[in-house]
Amino acid sequence: MKTLIIVAHPDLQASRINRAWVEELSKQENVTVHSLYNEYPSGAIDVKHEQELLDSHDRVIFQYPFYFYSTPPLLTQWFNDVLEVGWAFGPGGDHMRGKQIGIAISAGGTAAAYQDGGHNLFTIQDLTKPMASIANYVHADYLPLFVLHGVNNVTDEELAASRAAYVNHLAAVEPVVYK
Ligand SMILES: Cc1cc2nc3c(=O)[nH]c(=O)nc-3n(C[C@H](O)[C@H](O)[C@H](O)COP(=O)(O)O)c2cc1C
Repeated sequence: MKTLIIVAHPDLQASRINRAWVEELSKQENVTVHSLYNEYPSGAIDVKHEQELLDSHDRVIFQYPFYFYSTPPLLTQWFNDVLEVGWAFGPGGDHMRGKQIGIAISAGGTAAAYQDGGHNLFTIQDLTKPMASIANYVHADYLPLFVLHGVNNVTDEELAASRAAYVNHLAAVEPVVYK
């Protein structure tokens, strides 16, 4: 299975968590790491290039830091631009059908803060459900999320463990069945 990691971090050089993950994943076979902010510093996305990348992979992982319970803006723009009607959905829009889609997130909030009724009110699974809906909309299978919580207090050992856990996640993860 060929996996495309679409990284959406506005400043990967200054990042600790996402940069470490990128370093680790870049060493893996059958994994392509594609950093949107590095590729498109002006914000103008090459839609055809993105669609060709998608066509040549079976699985797509969107990797990003959690920003205001959502994605950094270039990833939202990527969805708007790249998942075109007639390509990703609608008549003739079959290019994403049968692929696997997942997300890998770094979050400042702790696991305890992302409990129902907790500091952030909802679980991170609930807050990221639009991604499952996007997968469903384009007839892709949705994968359970990979998340590292409390990133501001993560030790070097915990960060190293999360690199390995991410690789293991990619090796073992199976789609979630929603219906
Ligand atoms: C603009 C902004 C918004 C953020 N919003 C959230 C948030 O809603 N929830 C959360 O858990 N962390 C939030 N954070 C913390 C980031 O998720 C955290 O800094 C990031 O995951 C660290 O990853 P990095 O080392 O790769 O930059 C936010 C950070 C910034 C800069």
